Amino acid sequence: MDELCDRLRAATSVLALTGAGISAESGLPTFRGTGGLWRTHRVEELASPQGFARDPRLVWAWYNERNAAHRRAEPNAGHYALAALEQRISDFTLATQNVDSLHMRAGSRRLLELHGSLRTARCTGCEQRRPLDSLGLPEDAIEHACGGYLRPDIVWFGEPLPSAVWERAVEAASRAEVIVVVGTSAVVYPAAALATHYAGDAFVAEINPEPTAISERVDCLLRGTAAEVLPRIVETFDRG
Ligand code: OAD
Repeated sequence: MDELCDRLRAATSVLALTGAGISAESGLPTFRGTGGLWRTHRVEELASPQGFARDPRLVWAWYNERNAAHRRAEPNAGHYALAALEQRISDFTLATQNVDSLHMRAGSRRLLELHGSLRTARCTGCEQRRPLDSLGLPEDAIEHACGGYLRPDIVWFGEPLPSAVWERAVEAASRAEVIVVVGTSAVVYPAAALATHYAGDAFVAEINPEPTAISERVDCLLRGTAAEVLPRIVETFDRG
């Protein structure tokens, strides 16, 4: 903790990379842990372009439920701590794999949503976007006027990340002196590569109660939950 905070204080450029674990203490399930969404749901049916083409209504029913759960949830102390770090570090970037908007609601602004968000739907034909509210997308609106289909504005398996967002994330990783990885199993690429392949000689710290795919490669492991550990980092940072 002390070494990480010393390095954060000395750093000009910092990247944080987050995954579903940071929202676990807001009551949202992760994907691969106990109670994780991919333990009980079929990824290929719900999170792939092929699954959507087969049954867009099933896919929307699921994302409408998730969207409603995101909007019922509140950011937790971990989200707020990352927003507070952004205020303290001149070049701070937060890259998240989450589509739940909790970082934005906690006040993070230098935010890269690598996998998109459920704030909008996007047409498969003309790419036009439409905002989603807490009800999500009604079944009769799935077919778009242009002949395409409105789909969740997120990245599914087998799809590339939005290129402008990804380029900014790679640049942030390349110039970062410290990378803080929170609440991700680090098995989904290319996002996980920000903390490995693109990290250069940055000091990489992992905050996670469990070991992950990159635990053996990081410089510093803080075993604990996001809502416990991240506020302690801000406190220690401020104590100087
Ligand atoms: P995973 O479910 O794979 O990993 C969640 C991680 O959070 C695990 O390493 C847990 O140990 C950790 N964790 C659980 N509770 C925590 C807590 N309170 N504080 C900190 N960490 C905690 O989720 P992701 O790594 O985000 O992609 O998954 C990556 C991508 O796979 C997602 O963005 C999604 C999914 O399929 C798409 O949908 C494209």
